[in-house]
Amino acid sequence: MIKKMGLLLVAILLLVGSQVKADEGMWIPMLLKKYNIEDMQKAGFKLSADDIYNINDACLKDAVVGLGREGSPFHHFCTGELISDEGLIVTNHHCGYGAIQAHSTLEHNYLKDGFWAMSRDEELVNEGITASFLVRMKDVTKIVLDSITDDTKEVVRQKMIRKNIKKIQDAAEKDSDYRASVKPFFNGNQYFLSVYEIFKDVRLVGAPPSAIGKFGGDTDNWMWPRHTGDFSMFRIYADKENKPASYAKDNVPMKPNQSFKISLKGVNEGDFTMVFGYPGTTTEYLTSHALEMMTQLDNPHKIKIRTKKLDIMRADMDASSMVRIQYSAKYAGVANSWKRWQGEIKGLQRLDAIAKKKNLETKFVAWANTNEDLKKKYAGIIDEMGSLYKELAPISLARDYAIEAGIRGAETVGFATKFKGLSRLTKKDSDKIADAVEALKKQSDKFFKNYNMPTDKKLLAATLKMYSDNLEDKYLPKEIINVRTKYKGDFEAYAEKALRKSIFSDQDKVNQLLANYKISMGKKLAKDPIFALGNSIRFHYESEITPRYGKLSRQTTKLQRTYMAGLMEMQKDKTFYPDANSTFRVHYGKVAGYKARNAMTYDHYTTLEGIIEKDNPEIFDYDVPQKLRDLYHANDFGQYANDKGEMPVCFAATNHTTGGNSGSPVLNANGELIGLNFDRAWEGVMSDLMYDAEICRNVSLDIRYVLFVVDKFAGAGYLLDEMNIVK
Ligand code: ARG
Ligand code: ASP
Repeated sequence: MIKKMGLLLVAILLLVGSQVKADEGMWIPMLLKKYNIEDMQKAGFKLSADDIYNINDACLKDAVVGLGREGSPFHHFCTGELISDEGLIVTNHHCGYGAIQAHSTLEHNYLKDGFWAMSRDEELVNEGITASFLVRMKDVTKIVLDSITDDTKEVVRQKMIRKNIKKIQDAAEKDSDYRASVKPFFNGNQYFLSVYEIFKDVRLVGAPPSAIGKFGGDTDNWMWPRHTGDFSMFRIYADKENKPASYAKDNVPMKPNQSFKISLKGVNEGDFTMVFGYPGTTTEYLTSHALEMMTQLDNPHKIKIRTKKLDIMRADMDASSMVRIQYSAKYAGVANSWKRWQGEIKGLQRLDAIAKKKNLETKFVAWANTNEDLKKKYAGIIDEMGSLYKELAPISLARDYAIEAGIRGAETVGFATKFKGLSRLTKKDSDKIADAVEALKKQSDKFFKNYNMPTDKKLLAATLKMYSDNLEDKYLPKEIINVRTKYKGDFEAYAEKALRKSIFSDQDKVNQLLANYKISMGKKLAKDPIFALGNSIRFHYESEITPRYGKLSRQTTKLQRTYMAGLMEMQKDKTFYPDANSTFRVHYGKVAGYKARNAMTYDHYTTLEGIIEKDNPEIFDYDVPQKLRDLYHANDFGQYANDKGEMPVCFAATNHTTGGNSGSPVLNANGELIGLNFDRAWEGVMSDLMYDAEICRNVSLDIRYVLFVVDKFAGAGYLLDEMNIVK
């Protein structure tokens, strides 16, 4: 009997193992009906697949927007959601940060003090932010891969694919205001078309002060327990026909097909949750070889370079509030991946990820050798990967330095390279000067608003030294070798002199150049030390690194595609999800705390009490606004308290999310908005490469804290009138 039960158990486990499980995965909305909905309903979801995604009627997907930038609207840097029928959207504070900062000055410091438009007229116009609505998706694999066979040469294949994609996109955009984008899924084994309606007039409505919106700052970033009020609000505007239009004074608030109901019910441990959004990039199906290069070579070096840059910026920010305004967005940008990479390395070690990958690869090779047909397709690819990555590693490292310590090392270096086009104009291009000058003037204004020369000087010296110290000479740009020789390795002396002589550290000098630019000045520009350095780095990158890196990556891409196809063929009963690629996805899981480390177990939610515990006016990241303290001490939480009378702030859940999911709506079983996704917990950030339901947690802001801050703290409660709040 016991034996029989054992067998049954094994059978059940096998069955469960081959089916979709909640938690892990970022699912394609149009395929939920086929693969996920039963599982979702079993986990507690009360609605149907059609309620989420359906192209004939208004549905939940219509309340979600991908936030992009004018030049690259299909690359969604964050997600947002409609919370009123008058175009009001909510997203994260860190997603709106650039916009909030752009409107901030020492006199009107919206980063520090927050901002609330008290009427529609006061909403602030932003240049270049787009909000995309997904209209429909379609599997177009057959058309994209038409006439392509296993024997088609890789370059030919890519060419054919580009041509086919163009045709599909053109057809989808024809006679409509929509924009279309076809992207590869499953490492290029499938292709899906996404059609969007893209709005271009997105105005800032409000943001809490950074002491709430960025509470905990980079200290708490990527951590749980968390107390960050990471939200900001925007409004989408449209023309009179409710169609996308560039900013115009008489544009009107956009009327969406759908907006989310907001629930005040909150969450309990184990509750079903669902996240919609635009996850950016994950690489779950890499081989052990790729993982080794990333976690043992590339990322440790990138971490080292960024540590240096951050130390330099931090010291200057601490010493001056002007520098703090200028550098906080840049600092946060550098710090974010820097910290994630460190957690990722730890998390992968903890999971013994490389050994797990190797194990799967051994199985794969054994399987691939079971018959001639498979052998022809798959045997040997793992070994090939191994040799390819060996060849790729030094090039990849040189590429890391060129980017992290070169082009993005000192700020002036990257800025100077933008003038290359101008310097190259010849007599016959005189008609192009005006446009080029105009564009550079704009970039220059933006650049100098946030530029502090003493900080940059330190960055220049430090990054060049690291560049030169960590690579063999054959991987170094000429100018770096020149500088090292001429200054006998004293990069500080070089930085001092170069920035004094260069025009790129001084806005007046740049303006002077632009004000009366003539073709003959190209030569003078070429003599500028920073211009020469920037161009040398760029030239080396483009002529030495990129071609070799490109060639090898094309080979790894092909092998990865073949490996992916093989994995799917080997595990026929498994439902695979495609890596994130900035297309619309659905994630689902449950509210849960976790055991972080030995003897450390975390609850699933945090409260205002935790903010008060962290309160310390001496520490910038933990300086709680007086008004928030007062509200806490008065217990003035209104209708936003939970049933224990606490003011909830954040909660953790098992949804498998990644960068780009920030601002994503977190919904309950009834499809009502209960939170805003904004981060993941430190111990689980390796989920981009390997997910583990035990420990991977997405971190969300409780929507009740958002409403509490808007209403009680900011006194902007009038915004609640246009929301649909359910108890
Ligand atoms: N880690 C979050 C994400 O990847 C938040 C980043 C912004 N916050 C910060 N302190 N840098 O976007
Ligand atoms: N904070 C990330 C974002 O901005 C979300 C994450 O990586 O979990 O999209």
